[in-house]
Amino acid sequence: MIENAVIVPQEASRDSETVTLKYRGQTYELPILVGTEGERAIDISRLRERTGLITMDPGYGNTGSCMSAITYMNGEEGVLRYRGIPVEDLAEQATFKETAFLLIYGRLPTRKELTRFSVMLNDHSLVHEDMKVFYQNFPRGSHPMGILSAMVNAMRSFYPELNDSSEEVQMTVTRLLSKIRTMAAMSYKISRGHTVVYPRPDLAYCANFLNMMFDSPVKPYRIDPEIVNAVRVFWILHADHEQNCSTSSVRLVGSARVNLYSAISSGIAALWGPLHGGANQAVVEMLEEIRQSGQGYKHFIQRAKDKNDPFRLMGFGHRVYKTLDPRATIMQKVCHRLLSALNITDPLLDIAQHVERAALEDDYFRERHLYPNVDFYSGIVLRAIGIPKNMFTVMFAIGRLPGWIAQWLESISDPNWKLNRPRQIYVGQTRQEYIPIDERE
Ligand code: CMC
Repeated sequence: MIENAVIVPQEASRDSETVTLKYRGQTYELPILVGTEGERAIDISRLRERTGLITMDPGYGNTGSCMSAITYMNGEEGVLRYRGIPVEDLAEQATFKETAFLLIYGRLPTRKELTRFSVMLNDHSLVHEDMKVFYQNFPRGSHPMGILSAMVNAMRSFYPELNDSSEEVQMTVTRLLSKIRTMAAMSYKISRGHTVVYPRPDLAYCANFLNMMFDSPVKPYRIDPEIVNAVRVFWILHADHEQNCSTSSVRLVGSARVNLYSAISSGIAALWGPLHGGANQAVVEMLEEIRQSGQGYKHFIQRAKDKNDPFRLMGFGHRVYKTLDPRATIMQKVCHRLLSALNITDPLLDIAQHVERAALEDDYFRERHLYPNVDFYSGIVLRAIGIPKNMFTVMFAIGRLPGWIAQWLESISDPNWKLNRPRQIYVGQTRQEYIPIDERE
């Protein structure tokens, strides 16, 4: 049991200034909330009650849904910190396990705590044997993200003893963190019709996963420290990203007080989308298409700029980053280091570099602040490791799990916890008469 975890966020402070809203002859003063990094928000939580108005913000680009003390990102300056620590420092020095602990419990673990955490992860790494039957009954060719989402939801039935005690919640958290690797590797092995490889207590988190993925009775897997390092960095870079689509799904679904497994399962489903976590797979598919088409990358850059063509440059652009995604810079370095260590020449890397250079010099991308995001190089890294394309987003999900858990824990511990329930402006038919079927034309 981890003591003194920092889970509940501090309240934001209030600015001395307010925002004045004038509407129908009345004046309303709206408070401004200020975060620890100086971010400001107009508090409209009582707006409808006071004025009858709601706010409209499709896509939530200007809407703060919660106060959070987990991750700070500044999209204009390309800053990303977990619990205050720059992601660059974590990618350089931390293990993924430490990073997960940091996100979930709010601080870096002591050596003793980390050992305890490792023991707990090892103790819970096996998956109930009955779950194997589930895997075997998915139709061949099922996408591993669909399987993972379903299996995580099914965990509620296999490990139901979830109650509100802190110890029990920590047990569930540990189970999820540990079993997700086993479940992901298991789905890969079963999809190929191969024997499942069980977790080994002597291996660390990343190496253990790689071994379960690639070891086989006919060809023992040699654990390469460069590959372990690439997976470690990949997972750290994906570990949290504040209120993105999947994390917001976890919080929103969790706000109905659903169990942790179901909330995480909804996050996995959201992450699957090609505009979100599915982008790493989409990038590699795009690079392959460029290569196979023989039309050259410039043709695809033109297509991405053509408003009549739905084609987008995958791995480019971000809702929050309006400069280079700091994760992309790190991932690009990891990509070069890994390929050189493994002595791999990947033609897709060459195409990626041409695309990146051309886009960065193009006014269309410059004016819209479209830079490579983390997914632009991560697919090439995963390809070099031997991860099949349809498992790329599963890799993202394993990395994002500590963030989802931390956000879920923070939301359920929030004294202001409310069921999430946005409003709308109805633009459909006004009241209509019901016409019985015989009288309809
Ligand atoms: N290629 C070409 N044009 C683009 C792209 C792109 N990748 N991304 C945005 N644009 C254009 C878009 O057409 C629009 O142009 P205009 O103003 O002329 O209509 C403008 O840039 C703004 O785009 P938007 O769709 O309003 O921006 P958004 O903030 O809603 O979208 C995004 C963000 C990530 C969904 C989008 O940039 C995109 O689809 N990128 C490709 C998919 C991708 O790489 N996703 C991974 C995101 S990072 C991983 C993660 O954290 O989940």
